[in-house]
Amino acid sequence: MTKLYKAGILGTGSCLPQRKLTNAELEDIVETSDEWIVKRTGIRERRIIDNDMPLAKLAVRAAENAIHDAGIPREEIELIIGATLTPDYLCPTLACSVQKELGLKGVPAFDMNAACTGFVYALNTAQQYIENGAYKYILIVAAEALSRVTDYQDRKTCVLFGDGAGAAVVGRVEDGTGIMGYVTGAHGELGHNLTIPCLYSTEEDLAKRNEGKKQVVWMDGSEVFTFAARIMAEATLRVVTDARLSVGDLDYIFPHQANARIIQNAVKRMRYPIEKVYSNLERTGNISAASIPVCLDEASKAGMLKKGDRIVLVAFGGGLTYGALLLCWSR
Ligand code: ACO
Repeated sequence: MTKLYKAGILGTGSCLPQRKLTNAELEDIVETSDEWIVKRTGIRERRIIDNDMPLAKLAVRAAENAIHDAGIPREEIELIIGATLTPDYLCPTLACSVQKELGLKGVPAFDMNAACTGFVYALNTAQQYIENGAYKYILIVAAEALSRVTDYQDRKTCVLFGDGAGAAVVGRVEDGTGIMGYVTGAHGELGHNLTIPCLYSTEEDLAKRNEGKKQVVWMDGSEVFTFAARIMAEATLRVVTDARLSVGDLDYIFPHQANARIIQNAVKRMRYPIEKVYSNLERTGNISAASIPVCLDEASKAGMLKKGDRIVLVAFGGGLTYGALLLCWSR
């Protein structure tokens, strides 16, 4: 297919809730220990959204930061893509709520849900619209309030998740930079390993959960772990090989932040130095679709990324889904 333009990230933004939930606090809620959580996951604290705060508010802050960072007037945004599995409402979507708050009346807006792979899928979608010339500037907002679908009596999941929002403005970039390749996929046949019922649930769904806790995460941790480590390594290797590069040509990898041991295991499989793998997991826990854009924003604002840097964004998530994008940083 003819590509009229190159697509890349023009600006990033993020917003984490103020409230911290530390491992020590979790020790008071459920039978666990700081030592277990740090050793098995690498997480020390996560941020939790206030009960009376809509997720859309966090998303709007991240979006405003990204638009400011891109240095464009917000009126130039032509499409808004929301990536979330924990929207405030099924409708209006997160993207429509953000559109309203930003005053971008009439701009098309929709949500997509690929769980933790949401940002990678959204960026891959935005890429198509930019490359074929349909739009010049697209806003992606990836935001999650996972604390609202977490059972704090279930120690196997409640220590893992946090809340937060990340955003990116995607647009046309110079030739030789921007998104250089992608790999995306899904394994619906493995979906039962990680579920959050919404409007429908089976007897089996209910049996796996604590009494009265219908719309919460249930996960077979070790099945997801094995899938995640393998698929993140495979997707990264495929995306660099397709571009006739090797992992040694990468300046950084930004993996989905689910568990430090998954990241270490994946990186070991691809024989890549862990020092060049960005991680904020210790402070944020797993914030699903928001995980990668928050990392990117932190790294970009810390001056870690320079024009021409080759990076891979790689994620896995519920579905089970996965995806990797190869980018040449364009700013
Ligand atoms: N504190 C103390 N002990 C615990 C805790 C806890 N929080 N959680 C589990 N344990 C216990 C278990 O009960 C088990 O005890 P047992 O042997 O007496 O039965 C023991 O620790 C070992 O349990 P495992 O499940 O084998 O522990 P593991 O080392 O596999 O770690 C974990 C569990 C952290 C969940 C890991 O499997 C994992 O990270 N999996 C992937 C999770 C993930 O990334 N999911 C993605 C979600 S993405 C999305 O789209 C929402």
